[in-house]
Amino acid sequence: MTTVRLSGLSKFFDEKSAPAVNALDLEIESGKLTALLGPSGCGKTTTMKMIAGLLSPTDGDISFDGRSIIGVPPEDRGAVMVFQNYLLFPYMSVADNVGFGLKMRKVDKGTIKARVSEMLDLVQLPGVEDRKPKQLSGGQQQRVALARALVVEPKVLLLDEPLSNLDAHLRDEMRELVRRIQTELDITTIFVTHDQEEAVVLADRIALLFDGELQQFDEPSAFYERPRSVEVATFFGGTNFVPGTYENGRMQTSIGSFSAPNSAIEQGAAMLSIRPEEVRIVTDEDERTYENFVTGTIRSRVYVGRFARFQVSVGEHRIEVFTEPGQVKNFNDGDAVSLSFDPDSLWVMEPGTTG
Ligand SMILES: Nc1ncnc2c1ncn2[C@@H]1O[C@H](COP(=O)(O)OP(=O)(O)O)[C@@H](O)[C@H]1O
Ligand SMILES: [Mg+2]
Repeated sequence: MTTVRLSGLSKFFDEKSAPAVNALDLEIESGKLTALLGPSGCGKTTTMKMIAGLLSPTDGDISFDGRSIIGVPPEDRGAVMVFQNYLLFPYMSVADNVGFGLKMRKVDKGTIKARVSEMLDLVQLPGVEDRKPKQLSGGQQQRVALARALVVEPKVLLLDEPLSNLDAHLRDEMRELVRRIQTELDITTIFVTHDQEEAVVLADRIALLFDGELQQFDEPSAFYERPRSVEVATFFGGTNFVPGTYENGRMQTSIGSFSAPNSAIEQGAAMLSIRPEEVRIVTDEDERTYENFVTGTIRSRVYVGRFARFQVSVGEHRIEVFTEPGQVKNFNDGDAVSLSFDPDSLWVMEPGTTG
């Protein structure tokens, strides 16, 4: 079990351009699956390569269990990296691919054979030892790449967008496999993805990077419930933004004044986030005296599986609401509707650059 700590970790590829990774501080807990999430080009692969020892940092430190690994050669770090495009040796059999790391370590043939078969069982691909990578599907090749990484019993497993070349169905299957193996082996794992849903489904914690800088490091639900900025909330998507001013736990907006005790800021110009799944349709007259209550007009309704998704115009704003289809089946476009926002479900943050 290994805790990975990044301290002020930076990478400049050249002096003139912005850093690919900028003063990154991150503590990746032992035995957990951490997702490194962010749009293309935000520095995910660069960070992983620095941890693996394939790139040297310009500045800062990386430690495993409190010991700096800067200067330790990649093969002695105990971190292995699995890439998006598998990078299997095409002319070697699956067995030779998987056993490669052990052969380099001069492990005897009998042990290698047994370990290879054990690893192929682990990735649920038994009996393919004699095939060549070309004779396997993409998903199977990715399993072989995973087996090859795990055979050396790494302390830290680095997965760089390992599922993004697979189709949706296979991706789900592989996510489960990754999660199961990670739990079974209890191995500290960093999983790179640009897909926030994948990060949410898989990870214990998510580190979100924009432009080489850490935006938020938190458990998955926090990115919906307590995003640190409008930019973070926008990346995760789906929430309603209403700008205004925040003071004494209340948000003053053009559509009303709302009690909103949960906030990333003390006071001042602010952005209110109203999650569509937290909005309640109020049908009972008595409830209209409750706080955090608005009236609006239904503009459109769409049924998405078990949800109805509809837009309500409230003043100059459009509020998107998710609810059970039964709740809105008697409403039509143009109908007046009353909505209430549970104070605890609201979140206030700085207005941000997109607000
Ligand atoms: N070898 C390199 N030389 C110069 N710039 C690079 C190199 N590798 C990556 N970069 C730049 O660093 C930034 C981060 O890249 P990368 O870590 O690959 O992002 P991600 O994996 O998040 O898509 C990008 O702007 C990219 O163009
Ligand atoms: Mg990358």
